[in-house]
Amino acid sequence: MIKKVGVIGAGQMGNGIAHVMAVAGLDVYLKDISEEQLQKGMKVIEGNMQRQVGRGKLAEADMLAALGRINPVVDDGYLADIDLVIEAATENEETKKAILAPLGPQLKPEAIIATNTSSISVTRLASVTDRPDQFMGMHFMNPVPMMKLVELIRGIATSEETFQTIQDLTVHLGKSPTPAEDFPAFIVNRILLPMINEAIYTLYEGVGSVQAIDTGMRLGANHPMGPLQLADFIGLDVCLSIMQVLYEGLADTKYRPCPLLVKYVEAGWYGRKTGRGFYDYTTDEPTPTR
Ligand SMILES: NC(=O)c1ccc[n+]([C@@H]2O[C@H](COP(=O)([O-])OP(=O)(O)OC[C@H]3O[C@@H](n4cnc5c(N)ncnc54)[C@H](O)[C@@H]3O)[C@@H](O)[C@H]2O)c1
Repeated sequence: MIKKVGVIGAGQMGNGIAHVMAVAGLDVYLKDISEEQLQKGMKVIEGNMQRQVGRGKLAEADMLAALGRINPVVDDGYLADIDLVIEAATENEETKKAILAPLGPQLKPEAIIATNTSSISVTRLASVTDRPDQFMGMHFMNPVPMMKLVELIRGIATSEETFQTIQDLTVHLGKSPTPAEDFPAFIVNRILLPMINEAIYTLYEGVGSVQAIDTGMRLGANHPMGPLQLADFIGLDVCLSIMQVLYEGLADTKYRPCPLLVKYVEAGWYGRKTGRGFYDYTTDEPTPTR
């Protein structure tokens, strides 16, 4: 039974994961290497919970109790006491391995380790830990408090008991689990990111403007958000790193990242989080940039 959880990385996903875990009654330790990110993450959680209270989705008293269950931490003392650690740090294999490798000796023998990676091999990440059988992918969607799906990914060594425990936890969080095999980018991003990349090619080749492409897919394919708007929302750096994992992992040129996506990331135009991507977010209404 999972009661105490450590979340490593307090960015947009980590703070969302801490949020839903605390609302579900679990004790949460939220860790980041950046004190500033940690404080920002705590503020975002409070703001998002306030919004849920405003919409009548969460009682004020439950919000206060949930906030009280989240402990921001900067050192590793909390690890000795937890049942599950979820790694939600930057999407970079070396960063993740450096976080995961030293965890084992600090954890209880029965503790499970999960990663929220969007695309990196769960089996490869598991191999740097002391417990590949108690390791799996728990891939939440963004924004975590709103999105129902959690993809559950078995590495080659993941035990059935580990999978069942995480599946039960997912249901306890009020989410819908869906199983995926450990192939690059799993199911959702394997399908979604090539579509976004194709939308960027469509822009790059001058087939349509930002507005034409997004309106086309919203009204023509009934998508709630256009693909370029969605790319800005996910983060263009995250989109590029997922396309690179698909391109390298599946060795097929159809996954080649669009040069325009590469250029935007090189410029530091990561989308909403930096104020500019395919839209400019410094104006009242986001303005298309092309
Ligand atoms: N953005 C999305 O839509 C989305 C969706 C699903 C999954 N994911 C995955 O979730 C993970 C996090 O993505 P994000 O969008 O929250 O990124 P983010 O950039 O918002 O947050 C990453 C956080 O990790 C922290 N970090 C980096 N190195 C660390 C370390 N050694 N120890 C502790 N903290 C460290 C950073 O300071 C930062 O706060 C990635 O693996 C990403 O692929 C992202």
